[in-house]
Amino acid sequence: MVKNPVRSEGDAFLRACRGEPAAHTPVWFMRQAGRSQPSYRRLRETHTLMEIVRDPRLAAGVTVSPVEDLGVDAAILFSDIMVPLEPMGVAFEIREGVGPIVADPIRTAAQVARLVELDPARDVPYVLEAVERAAASLAVPVIGFAGAPFTLACYLVEGGPSRGYIEVKRFMWSQPDVFRALMEHLTRNMQAYLAAQAAAGARALQVFDSWVGALAPDDYEAHVAPHMARLFAGLRHVPTLAFGVGTSGLIEAIARTGPAVVGLDWRVDLAVARDRLGADRPVQGNLDPAVLLAPWARVAEAARGVLARNGARPGHIFNLGHGVLPETDPAQLQRLVALVHEETRAATHEGEQTS
Ligand code: CP3
Repeated sequence: MVKNPVRSEGDAFLRACRGEPAAHTPVWFMRQAGRSQPSYRRLRETHTLMEIVRDPRLAAGVTVSPVEDLGVDAAILFSDIMVPLEPMGVAFEIREGVGPIVADPIRTAAQVARLVELDPARDVPYVLEAVERAAASLAVPVIGFAGAPFTLACYLVEGGPSRGYIEVKRFMWSQPDVFRALMEHLTRNMQAYLAAQAAAGARALQVFDSWVGALAPDDYEAHVAPHMARLFAGLRHVPTLAFGVGTSGLIEAIARTGPAVVGLDWRVDLAVARDRLGADRPVQGNLDPAVLLAPWARVAEAARGVLARNGARPGHIFNLGHGVLPETDPAQLQRLVALVHEETRAATHEGEQTS
């Protein structure tokens, strides 16, 4: 196969972020670096998650390895959404199998006022160096990321993972001005953090609003959307991706906040979502991560279903609706990447010839 130097395989992801046709549908996975990988599990026998994150060589190595192991079209920085909170004055630990636990949950105006401003170069130089190192050794783009203000606020106010998010909702409704101050602090600082990652070599930026699907549409509009709009408006020089779970009722509102790409989880039909958003809005998703635990024939069928729902529309980044489950066999991920590439190569070439 002759490679087109302009449309090289390395830029399929960025082309899709811009809504342009690509040589194949790009694919990467959230949590592609993690416990599904034997090499990561071996590294975790001798290092904690935070030790890996704070060592740029190790973090860059973990960032790069899924590109080599799986053949994905993008790498995501190996870090965690909680990392920039520590220099802001928030003590936390990440408990295995549970998630982040915040020592002193935020419930008062005084606690919000005590939050420190993040200076990325001074406070998290290891993150920026990990981005630089990974970008230097990869032909595919490195995606930088941050937690979205609401999802970070969930951890800060709840103090840890939550089922109903009732404490953050109680806080949002009973102290709306203090909640707004918290969201403003997080928005301003995550914008600086994301811009620093882009300056270090991240070619796209994903904002993880994992728990925003807990909100009613009116609450999303009133308490979250204005902050997201400000966040994305400050990051216009790099493609941005908005990610959330359980957001079927929010995708139009999320799109209006201005990300280049809207993430979809598996609870929404991708064809319906693309119709709702307009065909020119790029989307990312949306295979159920649990499907990868099924026999390969079911994985292939489900993946073909996602591709068929997209049809030949450009601007589709294939991904899971949430992160890779630790129980996933990496061989299934590898076959999935190959299937997405093979099944979309011919279709997009045809599309290009007729357009
Ligand atoms: O490959 C990648 O996706 C990049 C690395 C990455 C991690 N966390 C590493 C990690 C990314 C993008 C994140 C973001 C993150 N962290 C989110 C948003 C995405 C999502 O999953 O919704 C959230 C909510 C967190 C908070 C967090 N950190 C959780 C819920 C957990 C899981 C706890 C567990 O043990 O299951 C973590 C820990 C964490 N962050 C792991 C990894 C690979 C688990 C593995 C480990 O402990 O080594």
